[in-house]
Amino acid sequence: MMEWSDTHCRVLHRLLSSRALLYTEMVTAEAVLHGDRARLLGHDAMEHPVALQLGGSAPRRLAEAARIGADFGYDEINLNVGCPSDRVQSGRFGACLMKEPDLVADCVAAMRAAVPVPVTVKCRIGVDGQDPEVALRALVGACAAAGVTRFVVHARKAWLEGLSPKENRDVPPLDYALVARVARENPHLQFVLNGGIRTLDEAAAHLTRFDGVMLGRAAYQDPALLADVDARLFGDAPRGLDIAVAAYTDYVARKLAEGVRLHAMTRHMLGLFNGRPGARAFRRHLSENAIRDGAGIGVLYAALALVGPCARAA
Ligand SMILES: Cc1cc2nc3c(=O)[nH]c(=O)nc-3n(C[C@H](O)[C@H](O)[C@H](O)COP(=O)(O)O)c2cc1C
Repeated sequence: MMEWSDTHCRVLHRLLSSRALLYTEMVTAEAVLHGDRARLLGHDAMEHPVALQLGGSAPRRLAEAARIGADFGYDEINLNVGCPSDRVQSGRFGACLMKEPDLVADCVAAMRAAVPVPVTVKCRIGVDGQDPEVALRALVGACAAAGVTRFVVHARKAWLEGLSPKENRDVPPLDYALVARVARENPHLQFVLNGGIRTLDEAAAHLTRFDGVMLGRAAYQDPALLADVDARLFGDAPRGLDIAVAAYTDYVARKLAEGVRLHAMTRHMLGLFNGRPGARAFRRHLSENAIRDGAGIGVLYAALALVGPCARAA
C-alpha cells in the first residue's frame, strides 16, 4: 500500500506473523527501470515471503522490471490492475486496465517469461459502466490463458470518473458473491479475496470459499491482529505481541545506527495497542517526539513504558 507498506512496515508485520504473505507498495515499471533501485526495491531478508507489486502496461518494460525485481529476491511479482488514481490513469495502468484484458494478458505473459517466480494479478471486479459479471470473467480468462493462476480481487468496482482514490476504497459496493462464483467456475485457479475484511473471524469465514484473503487497512491500522494470524489461520504456535514488539525495537535501534529516522519506523506502530490501556498516550508520545531531529530509541522506550507490560501481552 502506497506510503504504508514500505520495508519498515513489512518488517514489523513479519515479526507479527511469520506466515502472512506481504506485499510492497506499488512501484511503476518505469521507476524500476530508471529510478533508485536500492531505495525502491531494497528490503530486509526477514521480510520473506514478500511480493513486489508493479504498475504499468508496456509488456516489455514490465517484463524487465519483473526480472529486476526477481533478481532482488522477491518471491512473487504482482501486477496492479486495481489502482484508480488519476496519475495512474494518465499512465494507462492500474484499474483502467480492467477495460483492456488482452493487453493485461500480454503484460503478464511477458512477465512470466522473464521470471522464475509466480506472476499474479490484483484487480477490481470492473470499472465505471462495465458489467462486473463480464469484466471480471474477461480479465481472469485472459490472464489465465496467459498462465496466471492466482488472482487477488478487490471485490468492488473502481469508479474512475467522480470518485477519489480514497472513496474508491469504500463507496462502490462490495460483491463477494461474484468473486465466489468466478472462483467456483475456475477451480484450477486461486482466488484471494480483498476489500472490507476487518477481523480474523471474517477472514476465517471467507477462507471456506476462497484460497486466501488479503487485509489492507485492517492489517495496517490494527497490526496486532497479525499476531494471531499464524495460530488462528495456519495452526502454528501463537506469536506473542510483546516478543514481536521487542524484536522490532531491536530492529529500530539497528536502523537508527544506519541513519534511518525514528519516525520512518515508528509511524507503522501507532495502531499497535489500539483499544488497550495506554494506547492513546503511546500514540501521542510517538507522534509528538519521534518526528524531532535526532530522535533516538529512548523515545520508543518511553512510549512503550506508557502501555505497560499487561497491555502488551498477546
Ligand atoms: C493508503 C493506501 C494505499 C494503497 N496502495 C495500494 C497499492 O499500492 N497497490 C494496491 O494494489 N492497492 C493499494 N491499496 C488498496 C488496498 O490494497 C486494498 O485493495 C483496499 O484498501 C481494500 O482492502 P481493505 O478493505 O482490506 O483495506 C491501498 C490502500 C490504502 C488505504
